[in-house]
Amino acid sequence: MTRQHDTVVILDFGAINSQAAAKSVRSLNIYCEVLPCTATAERISALAPKAIMLQRGAACGEATLRRQPAADPEAFGVPVLDLADRACDAETLKPFLVGQCGLKQDWTVAAFIDEAIADIRRTVGDRKVLLAMSGGVDSSVCAVLAHRAVGRQLTCVFVDHGLMRKDEPQEVCSVFRDRFGIALRHVDARDRFLDKLAGVGDPERKRKIIGEEFIRVFEEEARSAGEPDYLVQGTIYPDIIESGWDGGKPVKAHHNVGGLPKNIAFKGLVEPLKYLFKDEVRQVALALGIPASIAMRQPFPGPGLGVRCLGEVTREKLDILREADAIFRQAILDAGLEQQASQYFAVLTGNRSVGVSNDARTYAYTVALRAVKTSDFMTARFVPVPMEVLETVSGKITAALPQVNRVVYDITHKPPATIEWE
Ligand code: XMP
Repeated sequence: MTRQHDTVVILDFGAINSQAAAKSVRSLNIYCEVLPCTATAERISALAPKAIMLQRGAACGEATLRRQPAADPEAFGVPVLDLADRACDAETLKPFLVGQCGLKQDWTVAAFIDEAIADIRRTVGDRKVLLAMSGGVDSSVCAVLAHRAVGRQLTCVFVDHGLMRKDEPQEVCSVFRDRFGIALRHVDARDRFLDKLAGVGDPERKRKIIGEEFIRVFEEEARSAGEPDYLVQGTIYPDIIESGWDGGKPVKAHHNVGGLPKNIAFKGLVEPLKYLFKDEVRQVALALGIPASIAMRQPFPGPGLGVRCLGEVTREKLDILREADAIFRQAILDAGLEQQASQYFAVLTGNRSVGVSNDARTYAYTVALRAVKTSDFMTARFVPVPMEVLETVSGKITAALPQVNRVVYDITHKPPATIEWE
């Protein structure tokens, strides 16, 4: 699909800013891919690059400077730019890419949409496709693209595991059914998940149960949809780039909605977003007419509120958390702070403490609020939400929820903390 556009290859020597360089190139509407410096000549040639950039970066030190590329960048007969020690914003790169290399600036959102739809149609033909809708921006964009491409051949499944935020299931269903006419199947699996989670307090065990149960429900849905041949997944480009590198040991067992069910043999995967960065997915979402409440939505983990309700997950605790979380998120929006935080949410700690209300002793839950800013989710800084906003939120939460008598704000960066509490 991308071959129709002039392509730039960035050879990444383990620099921290390779993705930033790629985003700068793409912001000029020039298509660009990041390959590890270990990429073979065949892999690079397959992209037929019109220019190659080497990204060792100033900030990545000794080891990356010593790395040698597997293929000689000069051997491809196209201009090569070594970005070491150079800023890589779009304006700095433009003279090289447009002036010197004469690359066409035709990789636009509209072009992406047309090509992605044509691609899905070509891959799927007249067969059936299955998609797990999470309500997040990635699966939403996939759903609209796939629906435009193959219409009724698409089965779109939304598994409500009971761990969603306030009003989320209703919003997702109404947007996709009413606005886009997608026949979204809303599977009410709340009792299944919550019964499985009863009495389980260990965070990793909870994640595992949620992940496995999700796959089980999804398999059943696939069976009742006549075992479609293709599965649509919302994989995005950072997942691909990062899995191409050595990577570290995961800190938590991530569960991703849309994870491949093991017992169903799909003929193939359709991953329309696998070359897009998150910001680009959001632009595509808006261009497709997906409302900003979904297009700009903050990331939400696959296991949902299950990892924000510490210890055993119960219906009562989830109801408290949903309400406290909705109050905090609304306050962030009201204060116009949503651009300053990449993620902001409430956590129901398993902790209860002594308080006082109407002259009587209470023994109630502590709610923690967390807001972080991050560009890559590998590290993050807590956002200094103004004290007045926190005070208002604390007042509203304790007034609305007698089960809560203490509200605290998490002032820990990642590391040493993680973004989620479990
Ligand atoms: P942590 O807590 O590891 O989170 O600092 C980093 C980012 O990943 C999200 N997260 C998940 N996303 N499935 C997901 O799809 C998961 O199991 C999961 N666990 C954490 C988290 O919200 C943050 O954006």
